[in-house]
Amino acid sequence: MTSFELHHGDCLEGMHVLPDESVDVVVTSPPYNLGVAYSKYKDTAAREEYLGWSHRWAGEIRRVLKPAGSFFLNVGAVPANPMLPHELLLRLRDLFILQNTIHWIKSITVTPKSGGEISAGHFKPINSQRFITDCHEYIFHLTKTGNVKVDRLSIGVGYVHKSNIARWGHTGGRDRRCRGNNWFIPYETIVNREKDRPHPATFPVALAEWCIKLHGCNSELVVLDPFLGIGHAALAAGKCGVAQFVGFEIDAQYLSVARELVRGKKTGAEKKSRSKKSAKNEEELLF
Ligand SMILES: C[S@@+](CC[C@H](N)C(=O)[O-])C[C@H]1O[C@@H](n2cnc3c(N)ncnc32)[C@H](O)[C@@H]1O
Repeated sequence: MTSFELHHGDCLEGMHVLPDESVDVVVTSPPYNLGVAYSKYKDTAAREEYLGWSHRWAGEIRRVLKPAGSFFLNVGAVPANPMLPHELLLRLRDLFILQNTIHWIKSITVTPKSGGEISAGHFKPINSQRFITDCHEYIFHLTKTGNVKVDRLSIGVGYVHKSNIARWGHTGGRDRRCRGNNWFIPYETIVNREKDRPHPATFPVALAEWCIKLHGCNSELVVLDPFLGIGHAALAAGKCGVAQFVGFEIDAQYLSVARELVRGKKTGAEKKSRSKKSAKNEEELLF
């Protein structure tokens, strides 16, 4: 059973009281400073101010993270402001080493050899003559040493050509290979934003779950999300069966949704069955 500590308040102050080297995994998505309409937080600081603030909260994450801990930093951009993730990463260079770069793919089209096209996922279409629609975000896996052992096969996939299982010695006869760094994780289909996902910038529960599993999951882990939102990282920690989850959220409204979700009161986004007719009304398109 996971114990949850979901705190209302500024994560800088909140993390300040956590002991040094007490956290195994941080999975978080901070505000991106791209003008997202949060209900309380203003996402429009001057770039330099934002980067300075980010260095302060990331410094606290470094302090509380164990030497072999993992910090998964989810950050995206908008086409008109594409440098933000890279500028942020460079600003944190004195605190962490970039051990892995993961692409969270929200929507993709593949063209199989057999012909045709397979499209899956959701995206917000951009009406532009110069930009293409943005269908991904980054997850930077940051560590203190660049040498933290990960559990690749915990989120592995099967071989397409099963003959490879015997061919490669490292498989140990198991039909499991590393998934790689393109993670296709579509949003849950929603009908009503306010009721089903009352937050403008969530990541899917599965995203945080895969991060925790990649680090290596066990029942003694302590997981932290300093920018909790409506608590999707908390749900992931519960699903992974970690010992403790700690989260901070500055907005009381989002925090109360997180608490409800953790208590098991599901939002519409968690409900699977959707009629095709109502799905058409979504603000994100489903293909
Ligand atoms: C990108 S959202 C995180 C969403 C979350 N990953 C989820 O799936 O629900 C960033 C969140 O950080 C919160 N926030 C902004 N400044 C904060 C601060 N100083 N301390 C704690 N939370 C803060 C915002 O209110 C917002 O909910």
